[in-house]
Amino acid sequence: MAEAAKQKKLTVFDLQAKVDRGEKIFQVTAVDFPTAQLVDRSGIDCILIGDSLGMTALGYESTVPVTMDEMIHHAKAISRAAKRALLVGDLPLGAYHACTEDAVNSAMRMIKEGGADVVKLEGGEEFAPMAKAVVDAGVPVMAHIGLTPQLMSKLGGFKVQGKNATAGVQLLKDALALEQAGCFAIVLEAIPDRVAQLITDRLRIPTIGIGAGSYCDGQNLVLHDMVGLFDRFTPKFVKRYANCWDLISKALVDFQEDVKSGGFPKAEHSFTMKEDEYLNLLQHLPKT
Ligand code: KIV
Repeated sequence: MAEAAKQKKLTVFDLQAKVDRGEKIFQVTAVDFPTAQLVDRSGIDCILIGDSLGMTALGYESTVPVTMDEMIHHAKAISRAAKRALLVGDLPLGAYHACTEDAVNSAMRMIKEGGADVVKLEGGEEFAPMAKAVVDAGVPVMAHIGLTPQLMSKLGGFKVQGKNATAGVQLLKDALALEQAGCFAIVLEAIPDRVAQLITDRLRIPTIGIGAGSYCDGQNLVLHDMVGLFDRFTPKFVKRYANCWDLISKALVDFQEDVKSGGFPKAEHSFTMKEDEYLNLLQHLPKT
């Protein structure tokens, strides 16, 4: 772990090199300083400053209300922690949808103020001009297609995408347009594994799957989902590696019981005073 922390900062070229060597890319969404430290020190390649933090850290029902200012606030904390991983800053709904100028300005804010290394934006070929403008301005872009939660009203909710032939072909067209626009990698969220395989085989850039099967060049999970820190729902594509919710709930119950029973605090949690200082203090107590 400590060794991973000492290694040099990863770049987009290191991701491509991993894929060329036949190795998988690991990407995990973190939301703040401690979660980013944990992810960075574990050796994960990319920390995603994902707008899913709107749900896992801010309590929104979806990612739709998340603002650029909220993203920057979290990005700053995460970038203070990330010493090795490539930092991918999500651009939230509204930050790039109107025009290429908005896209470039938002991407620059994410890099300059938030401290991210690259940005990610959701959407298919209709957003290729925005992606290209950001790449041309000098900021590497990770694309994101399939289930794009920012556009969940248009998609009819959190639903698997690309399930029929027409939708599958459209996803491939989207991926190719975004690669053509200069994106360096693409997230494939909640699509059939066979569609993800077709896309991965046809693209030169790495695919990072989340609910897109095992064939992708890399995998993404949201830390809060994988360690059980989000209790509202668990998508089918999540594997839970720990149950932090139960662990923390038990600690909170144990704390209350300890305080009631005298089990906490004990001498080892308290501060002492020298005997002579204490006697001195008693002599100088104000008269009541
Ligand atoms: O916001 C996020 O965490 C994401 C991942 C689900 C890819 O966009």
